[in-house]
Amino acid sequence: MHKRFHTNPQAPVSPRQGTTSPYLIELQRVTKQYSTPAGTFTAINEIDLQVEAGEFVAITGKSGSGKSTLLNMITAIDTPTAGAITVAGVAVHQLSQNNSAIWRGTNIGLVFQFFQLLPTLTVVENVMLPMDFCNTYPTGERRERARMLLDRVGVLDQADKVPTLLSGGQQQRVAIARALANDPPVVIADEPTGNLDSHMADATLSLFQELAAGGQTILMVTHERTVTDWVSRTVNLADGVIIADSLITDRVPREVSYV
Ligand SMILES: Nc1ncnc2c1ncn2[C@@H]1O[C@H](COP(=O)(O)OP(=O)(O)O)[C@@H](O)[C@H]1O
Ligand SMILES: [Mg+2]
Repeated sequence: MHKRFHTNPQAPVSPRQGTTSPYLIELQRVTKQYSTPAGTFTAINEIDLQVEAGEFVAITGKSGSGKSTLLNMITAIDTPTAGAITVAGVAVHQLSQNNSAIWRGTNIGLVFQFFQLLPTLTVVENVMLPMDFCNTYPTGERRERARMLLDRVGVLDQADKVPTLLSGGQQQRVAIARALANDPPVVIADEPTGNLDSHMADATLSLFQELAAGGQTILMVTHERTVTDWVSRTVNLADGVIIADSLITDRVPREVSYV
């Protein structure tokens, strides 16, 4: 699988480590604790995880098992209490809040359950937004690139509408086009099919599968039961630890390890 390291002259370089991880994403003994009125709560407990470029990983587990907390640390939205997280050679646990937004904008495509498109912008303007925010493509090329991405996800004919005029499935496709705006090596999706009917959910999973085949790395939290039809690996969380990690080869599940 080829690696797609993103180089952006404006990305902060200070956290780039001398050490090189052979993995696109690597977590080493990552712990996240929250202070609550009842005391310290451990949401993620010393997790180790390695993901290679081009993997399509489903993260599964009951509500409260730590799935969103895990993704939020990989995207540097949140910082771990202990441990190290490397994404494409960047020690993301060391990124400052100031630097993390631009780093995330160029390296991570985010897809959410409720799409989170800006209602006052047209569809094509929503897709242009990450390019504007991170100043990644020449101003005069951004609209054409956004239209190309909308075409790729099958909703180019909706480009000049506002998002609320689109169906849920169409809005999620726009959100995926927006996630791809800066050609990030990693796409992170937290329950992207949670608000879609089964047909649109399958279409979304199929699209992710295509992206992974093209070398993009997908981490997706999901409750879909048929997810093994699409993903290359499932990681199952319970109470902040990985209880199963399975590679799926030729759509036949194969257990690789149990903790
Ligand atoms: N900011 C917070 N403060 C305190 N506890 C939190 C906070 N965020 C999440 N938690 C707790 O951490 C656990 C894991 O949450 P989360 O990662 O959202 O789980 P999941 O996404 O698997 O449903 C839950 O018990 C949740 O209540
Ligand atoms: Mg969650």
